[in-house]
Amino acid sequence: MLYVLCKKETSGEFIDVALMIFRRIESPDVYSYSNILVGLCKFGRVEGAIEVFHEMCRANLVPTRSAVNVLIGELCKMNTDEECSGKVRVTNFRRPFTILVPNVGSKGTAIMAATQIFWSTGDLGVLPSPFVINQMISELCRLRKIDEAIEIFRLVEERKLNCLGESYTLVIQALCEVRRVQEACKLFEQMLSQDLKPKLGVYNSLICMLCKLGNLEKAERLFEIMNKRRCEADNVTYTALIHGYGWARNWEAAYGLLIEMLKMGWCPHFHTYSLVDKLLKEHGQIDLALKLARKLEIQLLHKYCKAGRLEAAYEKFSSMLEKGFSLPVYTRDAFERAFKKAGKWEIACQLLKKSDHISEPTIEPESRGG
Ligand SMILES: *[C@@H]1O[C@H](CO)[C@@H](O)[C@H](O)[C@H]1NC(C)=O
Repeated sequence: MLYVLCKKETSGEFIDVALMIFRRIESPDVYSYSNILVGLCKFGRVEGAIEVFHEMCRANLVPTRSAVNVLIGELCKMNTDEECSGKVRVTNFRRPFTILVPNVGSKGTAIMAATQIFWSTGDLGVLPSPFVINQMISELCRLRKIDEAIEIFRLVEERKLNCLGESYTLVIQALCEVRRVQEACKLFEQMLSQDLKPKLGVYNSLICMLCKLGNLEKAERLFEIMNKRRCEADNVTYTALIHGYGWARNWEAAYGLLIEMLKMGWCPHFHTYSLVDKLLKEHGQIDLALKLARKLEIQLLHKYCKAGRLEAAYEKFSSMLEKGFSLPVYTRDAFERAFKKAGKWEIACQLLKKSDHISEPTIEPESRGG
């Protein structure tokens, strides 16, 4: 009966009936308790669920794994809501939580309650699913309760649970955010030694942190490791390194990476480009600065064409013509195609014709279009 009312029902209208039936049972067993726990969580009565959980503890019973999953999962979700709405969703929330967390009213009450439930059921041999465990780690990290997250992580590690890789990712990224460099690097090394494959996000977090702290040597080493391990870098990796080199006033390395980035078809943010541009000019590299400007403009033009932003593309094209930039064939083609697709080929033709008359000296004559 309880199973049907709590687990199968999709509307909350019977939860009070279920609760009444439950209260009539003299000494409920694990399953009755667990069913009612799930039912209360499912219909947003988490505070009631926590009370039932405590009763259960007093009766020396441990909820089933699925009930633990639901209860902790719900508290994690509540934690997010709490944060998003700026207030707590559950009104009658104070009483049960004072049992769990003395510090009621502070941020992250729900997640701390989840953590306590996690440890108390864990001690009795019932752990939630890997998914829910990582949900907890993730919420704790988000609230910068990193030490609590690490404690859970240690258990995951010790038990070699199959969510270990993802737990590593979450904890390393959180450590990077608060710049706990040594711990982050140590966990990364550990990850490698355990044959786990760090994801791009892990490399990026570490590289960003190291670059910001001016430890370029180590950042470079990580960049090498990721290349060797066939984890493809993205624009975030490149941007971090470019800024790192920028701060270190290494124009050659910064320029080289920016060019590489453009070759990959990625548009740098404007401040990344300006940083390198300024650096080049400060070092008297005017030709390179011009070359870079031209490459960036071409890239932007491609981006606009690809996105069908014809007006922006037209403006970019015109301004490039005014500046006397010549355009490579593939850029002219992309421009033409974009306009053709939108049925505005003539407009593109007019502009292209105009560009044919341009005969200024160019930086790279070999790539002149026409
Ligand atoms: C990287 O590319 C994505 C998607 O194009 C973009 O949203 C993001 O702002 C870029 N980040 C950097 C640092 O260039």
